[in-house]
Amino acid sequence: MSSQQNNNSNNVKQAASSDKALDQTLRPQKWDDYIGQELIKKNLNILIRAASERKESIEHLLFYGPAGLGKTTLALLIAKELGAQIRITSGPSIERVGDLASILTNLSPGDILFIDEIHRLNKTIEEVLYPAMESRSLDIIIGKGPSARSIQLELPPFTLIAATTRIALLSSPLRSRFSGGTFRLEFYTDNEIKKIITRSASILGMTIIEDAAEEISKRSRCTPRIANHFLKRCRDYAQVAGQNEIDINSTKQALDLMEIDAAGLNSHDRRILNVLIEKFKGGPVGLGTLAAATSEDEATIEEVYEPFLLQLGFIERTPRGRMATENAYRHLGQKQIQGNLLSAS
Ligand code: ADE
Repeated sequence: MSSQQNNNSNNVKQAASSDKALDQTLRPQKWDDYIGQELIKKNLNILIRAASERKESIEHLLFYGPAGLGKTTLALLIAKELGAQIRITSGPSIERVGDLASILTNLSPGDILFIDEIHRLNKTIEEVLYPAMESRSLDIIIGKGPSARSIQLELPPFTLIAATTRIALLSSPLRSRFSGGTFRLEFYTDNEIKKIITRSASILGMTIIEDAAEEISKRSRCTPRIANHFLKRCRDYAQVAGQNEIDINSTKQALDLMEIDAAGLNSHDRRILNVLIEKFKGGPVGLGTLAAATSEDEATIEEVYEPFLLQLGFIERTPRGRMATENAYRHLGQKQIQGNLLSAS
């Protein structure tokens, strides 16, 4: 690599890591700063207060729902409220039983273990987790062949908080062990997203005009992570334009430049809808076929694109596959005629 390329790649890495650090700064640090998910917060509050009064750990919790809605943030806030230490890991990074055993045996009493993407934990490891969750017992086999021995270790009281975007992939024995509760995070309202944007702008030390906050909110797919991402890019745009505040004009220009349309769809979402409509006459089409035709992988379609397209009512899942709805045709300016289509213009 030339020194110029090296510099460029270092600059990109620095920009990405400073953006990540910024994301940490934007996370609510106090329970009361967390906007939205009101019902979940009420339920968790009771759990936290009751367990604190009894000086016990709270029972294991499972959070599910689309990415970016605040599952990790909630886990961090629960730990803060309890004054507990939190260990953060994820399904794919626990590759061997030994990895899980080492995490569990290093927990202190009252710790919280957060496992993100728990649906990606492999089955053998999942089976080690059951007794650990249920009776704080770690049963592992040491050695191989005739000299193999099974040992049992007692674990300290701990709380597992797990998060997943794909609850259907969790086995029912695993699901049933989240005795504290299973909570589905909902998409946020425009008003909640607007509050999040206004709060984030003030943390960034930037003034945002109300209509600009509304515009970002409308295009943010009801998702705080996306709203904060757009806010940062709108701030860059306003700054480069020499403005000291984020206004509606620069915001619209910035979002248009990112190809985010009025409904919050990006170019990938529109491509999926266009392929569904143009190549498959609006469907129904199986996930595998749609993935191949769009060169995306199936999990990305299911976990990243589909939840919001379903929420908007732009696609439907039927037993025979995915179908584009009338709303999707209207949004893309296509006319639906008995399974075929004409361009609306
Ligand atoms: N930033 C990201 N998610 C948030 C939330 N739910 N409340 C406040 N700020 C946030």
